[in-house]
Amino acid sequence: MTLSPGHHRPRRLRTTPRLRRLVGETRLHPADLVLPLFVKEGLDAPRPISSMPGVVQHTEATLADAVRDAARAGIGGVMLFGIPAHRDATGSQADAEDGILQRAIRLARDVVREVETAGTRGGAAPVVMADTCLDEFTDHGHCGVLVPGRDQDGTVVVDNDATLERYASMAVAQARAGADVVAPSGMMDGQVGVIREALDAAGYSDVGILAYSAKYASAFYGPFREAVDSALQGDRRTYQMDAGNAREGLREADLDLAEGADLVMVKPAGSYLDVLAAVAEMSPVPVAAYQVSGEYAMIEAAAANGWIDRRGAVTESVLGIKRAGADVILTYWATEIAGWLRDETFGGTR
Ligand code: PBG
Repeated sequence: MTLSPGHHRPRRLRTTPRLRRLVGETRLHPADLVLPLFVKEGLDAPRPISSMPGVVQHTEATLADAVRDAARAGIGGVMLFGIPAHRDATGSQADAEDGILQRAIRLARDVVREVETAGTRGGAAPVVMADTCLDEFTDHGHCGVLVPGRDQDGTVVVDNDATLERYASMAVAQARAGADVVAPSGMMDGQVGVIREALDAAGYSDVGILAYSAKYASAFYGPFREAVDSALQGDRRTYQMDAGNAREGLREADLDLAEGADLVMVKPAGSYLDVLAAVAEMSPVPVAAYQVSGEYAMIEAAAANGWIDRRGAVTESVLGIKRAGADVILTYWATEIAGWLRDETFGGTR
């Protein structure tokens, strides 16, 4: 049987790598990518995170190297997480001037200055972002301070409004250390508005807010717990969202926009692509998505077993997030992907 002349043949555009490259609808660019980095106070050598092969807890020195590599690869930003040596009920190290996260921010900004001085030889200087949340700093591992002596059906109660004061102070400490963007990830009501007011009052009206708007209580954060030596017992279901709720994710994004978010985020990415697409549809500001630790671990584990092609699966997973509408993608593969993109541009296509 032959097709009649004029019959549609979509395969024609897939004939050669050259054609496929020309008509590609979605392209990744290094500038789309943000690398999350962990730095731990008091380490003398980087410590591997067993559930995230290839990712480490950095020392302050190796953190600077990682930011330098990220710049050389041309990625858009870094997202810093600090693990303090001392934890307490209110997370006092979170806003301490010499707290580990503030030190990390200053180091990252030093690298930015170094790269900008070196010009194109140093690569592209990344935007320095910091996680604005208490869970790494509290001895109970929750994202906020607790209501003393109270629990609800056996779960501790996180005090929304008392936590807001801590976030405001933390955001100002991060801005003072040199953060370009602060990223409240604790899902407290009103966090974006309170942080905006505090930053403006302290003279940091140019520091931006990346709001973790639709953040779901997810099993895919599992390996992150190891990455930050989390002290958490129980879960975060009284503040993070239930997996089935899409409308609620849109409402959260709406509220963050009204409070002045400069970017909004959906997290995790892979299991929430519909929410991401819906937020991208309504958002007047850039939309970020976080490919989280568990998404990373799953692909690494399957690839290590020889069950999937690592590079193919990594690329496809990130491309899917971009296709769904993300302008900015946080991924632990950011620097590596940026290297592949450079090879593909100048070394042919796959
Ligand atoms: C909270 C925070 C978490 C992640 C990013 N910011 C943990 C949580 O909410 O439980 C998870 C990131 C990942 O799993 O890669 N500070």
